[in-house]
Amino acid sequence: MPDIVVVFHSGYGHTQRMAQAVAQGAGARLLAIDAEGNLPAGGWEQLEAADAIIFGSPTYMGSVSWQFKKFADASSRPWYAQAWKDKIAAGFTNSAGMSGDKQGTLLTLFTLAMQHGMIWVSQGLMPSNTRAAKRDDSNYLVSYSGAMAQSPSDAGADAMSAGDLETARLFGERVAQIAARFKG
Ligand SMILES: Cc1cc2nc3c(=O)[nH]c(=O)nc-3n(C[C@H](O)[C@H](O)[C@H](O)COP(=O)(O)O)c2cc1C
Repeated sequence: MPDIVVVFHSGYGHTQRMAQAVAQGAGARLLAIDAEGNLPAGGWEQLEAADAIIFGSPTYMGSVSWQFKKFADASSRPWYAQAWKDKIAAGFTNSAGMSGDKQGTLLTLFTLAMQHGMIWVSQGLMPSNTRAAKRDDSNYLVSYSGAMAQSPSDAGADAMSAGDLETARLFGERVAQIAARFKG
């Protein structure tokens, strides 16, 4: 079994719920970036030991939260040692808008993974984009670069779309399958 860590920030719980679905699918450990942008004790060591790292952030102003960015900047330390090179990487985000510029966040996560020399895994699901499409279908938001979820701005994390959460779970499952292949 590959060792997979989902490292994420969530301001108000929505991205956390998504992270839980990703982790469930991947059989991964959750590592939360706190409100100050810091990891818990032992967090960096967990990341260094992992075969795969899945990055998650809410979309704030079209990109990652400042707490996630603080974590990303702090990852320059493992970058110097090339400690994450050739690990499997993937990313997910959640925001209030159907688009809301979520792609901007995924591109930031992708760029972080590329800077570390990691190997990026796509969403890998067919889109739900026909007239028959329903909001609770998998990949209703039609993302290819990573997993996306949308939560209404006036609703709590308990109101998230079942389809988006299933999309997140399937995404985690895919990352685990790819990580297992690379582990040999
Ligand atoms: C500072 C801030 C900026 C936001 N910017 C965006 C945005 O650019 N696009 C969007 O669709 N939603 C935006 N939102 C809404 C959040 O993405 C949405 O509430 C999300 O569910 C929050 O996730 P969280 O509960 O994990 O923090 C923003 C929210 C905040 C607080």
